[in-house]
Amino acid sequence: TNFFRQKPPRIPFTGSIHGGLQEGKSISVSGRVLPGADRFHVNLQCGSGSDANIAIHINPRYDGHPAYVVVNTKQHSSWGPEERKNSPIPAGSTFNLVITVTRDSYQLNVNGCHFMEYRHRIPFHQVDTISVAGKVEISFIGFQSNEIFVVCPLQTPFPYPGFPPQPGYPGFPPQPGYPGFPPQPGFSPAMLVEVQSSGHTAISGGLRPGSTITIQGTVYPNATRFHVNLSHHTGVALHYNPRFNENTVVRNTKQFEQWGAEERDGAMPFQRGQPFSMTIRCEKHCFKLVVNGMQMHNYKHRFSPLHNIGTLEIEGDLSLTSVLV
Ligand SMILES: *[C@@H]1O[C@H](CO)[C@@H](O)[C@H](O)[C@H]1NC(C)=O
Ligand SMILES: *[C@@H]1O[C@H](CO)[C@@H](O)[C@H](O)[C@H]1NC(C)=O
Repeated sequence: TNFFRQKPPRIPFTGSIHGGLQEGKSISVSGRVLPGADRFHVNLQCGSGSDANIAIHINPRYDGHPAYVVVNTKQHSSWGPEERKNSPIPAGSTFNLVITVTRDSYQLNVNGCHFMEYRHRIPFHQVDTISVAGKVEISFIGFQSNEIFVVCPLQTPFPYPGFPPQPGYPGFPPQPGYPGFPPQPGFSPAMLVEVQSSGHTAISGGLRPGSTITIQGTVYPNATRFHVNLSHHTGVALHYNPRFNENTVVRNTKQFEQWGAEERDGAMPFQRGQPFSMTIRCEKHCFKLVVNGMQMHNYKHRFSPLHNIGTLEIEGDLSLTSVLV
């Protein structure tokens, strides 16, 4: 599978929802709240005009302490009663928001944890558009249909501290004519990427300090193990292997058919039957593994050069929700 990359998106972003909404469908939005943000929002709406009905408006706000999220619906240009909850996403931090459609409600999940249930006020089958605006940058928006997640990477990876800023970052120029700019055409087929439950993905250009890989999925209730490999031509630089029967994560390196010494210390952050979000950040001296927002394992590099690590492999007792390379 290849992951298609394209230029940074403009925020505000509006795009059509491939195939509309159905019961069981999930939409995944990954990004980062800008430091010092006042607010941002993600809307699922009926059409893209400025007067469109908004079935769900998810609006984290940072103008109070603690930060909070307002969730609401707009019909015929008027807002309904707000639902409010403390924000699970601090300003400056990355997040994965997954919105799952059920018969009666939207289930909101943030960084692998249930956040809130929001009952439908507008029939979900009228929803055809997603829009994102405010002090946020988005790395991808994915739509899950059945077992396959369609991922639309919208932006190159975030710059990390100590990394030269991308040109034009932060603060994308506003889109001309916003609000009310013409609807962007739906994600074109060229941008759609299908992630199978397991597979091999090229890491274009290989890894370098600052590269990150984000994997979201759900562990099977009957899971024994799964693994993630970062591979090169002659071996596996990082084999990351959660084992449920041993309640541990084994990390190792394989070179020319020869395994090295296993690393097994640290906690087991994965649970059978549970969704997770994990990020592998390649740093100068090690891989840093963050699971559900918690720093879990560091793995000192045993293989170099990093740019020869050109393949991501995932296999085992899990279903994937999204993968961003
Ligand atoms: C474990 O669960 C998955 C998904 O529910 C299923 O596809 C698989 O066949 C199950 N495996 C076993 C050994 O029961
Ligand atoms: C990951 O690496 C191990 C060791 O080489 C290999 O046995 C396994 O098949 C690899 N996984 C995938 C999905 O290629």
